[in-house]
Amino acid sequence: MIDAYITNTLEDLQRGNRLRSMRTINGAQSTRVSIDGKEYLNFCSNNYLGLADDPRIRRAAFHSIEASGFGAGASRLVCGNLDEHTALEQYMAAFKGTESCVVFSTGYMANVGIISSLVGRGDIVFCDKLNHASIIDGIILSGATMKRYKHRDMQDLERQLQTNQDYKKKIIITDTVFSMDGGIAPLDQIVKLAKQYNCMTYVDEAHGLGVIGKNGKGVVEHFDVADDIDIQMGTFSKAVGSFGAYCCGKKELIDLVINKARSFVYTTGMPPSTAAASLAGVKIIENHPELRQKLWDNVQHIYTGLKGVGFNPGYCMTPIIPIIVKDSQMALAFSKELFERNILISAIRPPTVPVNTARLRLTVMATHQEKEIDYLLNHLEDIGKKLGLI
Ligand SMILES: Cc1ncc(COP(=O)(O)O)c(C=O)c1O
Repeated sequence: MIDAYITNTLEDLQRGNRLRSMRTINGAQSTRVSIDGKEYLNFCSNNYLGLADDPRIRRAAFHSIEASGFGAGASRLVCGNLDEHTALEQYMAAFKGTESCVVFSTGYMANVGIISSLVGRGDIVFCDKLNHASIIDGIILSGATMKRYKHRDMQDLERQLQTNQDYKKKIIITDTVFSMDGGIAPLDQIVKLAKQYNCMTYVDEAHGLGVIGKNGKGVVEHFDVADDIDIQMGTFSKAVGSFGAYCCGKKELIDLVINKARSFVYTTGMPPSTAAASLAGVKIIENHPELRQKLWDNVQHIYTGLKGVGFNPGYCMTPIIPIIVKDSQMALAFSKELFERNILISAIRPPTVPVNTARLRLTVMATHQEKEIDYLLNHLEDIGKKLGLI
């Protein structure tokens, strides 16, 4: 039965330019994608290193399917824990230099499960205002008190730490690279404050792994603070080119998560081929720093180009570049104009981003060619002028 709530909600979303729908990509996720038989330049994927259709990752998945079949058959704690899961967890713990690791089927499930197994009523979580929705949902589910500090504002964080000392357990949680703004969390300062106020630390490296740090270990590597972070969570679904997520930390902490995280206990293990593909991706990240170098060369190229034509590409240089146009209708118009010129960049609107900050979320890949970036820059300039944005 379609009731008034359903109809009215959809109508409200449409009226506010917030109704969303999906486009179908025909074939592989790459710098160029096919939609309805037409080719588009893809500048909105999280496939930062271009590994999602890399032959080495495809082969790892094929081999695993041949060796272990497709489905895991049960939850990991029953009989769905296969060689591929264990191999990935052991590798990730060694790669991250932690005692232990457990993997989840998605990053969303990881954040919701880890947070709700670590804290509850009587505890408090200090949370950056722009943290990912899965972190917010995990905190809400846990029943802990949530205090949201201003985005990357260490004075505001300290003020909140000072005025909220009487809780059983205190944790600071932050994205390391913010998914819609591309900013980097000041982990060096966060770690100092955590020590001063006796807090645990939890980072989400979804957009940091493979992208930041000399060896691609993320923002923890960039600031050299890995040993001061209690929970290192991240995903295999972005730069790794696969699917799923990890939680790295001390053995007892991981044992707690394995026993308590409902999104781990009460779900079937990820397909072993997914774990094998993730492992292959992490090995590529570790052994091929030149991919990261190519990504940063491309980021630099776009930044310089955008500034040159009068756009403000944001305060931190990362592969996530927000072009904020404020108004949702304007963001949709911009995205549509680009689409007509065979460029794919989705409009990101509230509630994914705060009200009045609708934007194009432009992302760069290591595998973009210079001429593709120049094509994009020419059209961004042309449309920006046409829409009165620059
Ligand atoms: C910061 C952050 N954390 C978690 C997630 C969820 O990861 P997944 O897509 O693997 O569920 C995402 C994106 O999807 C993200 O951007």
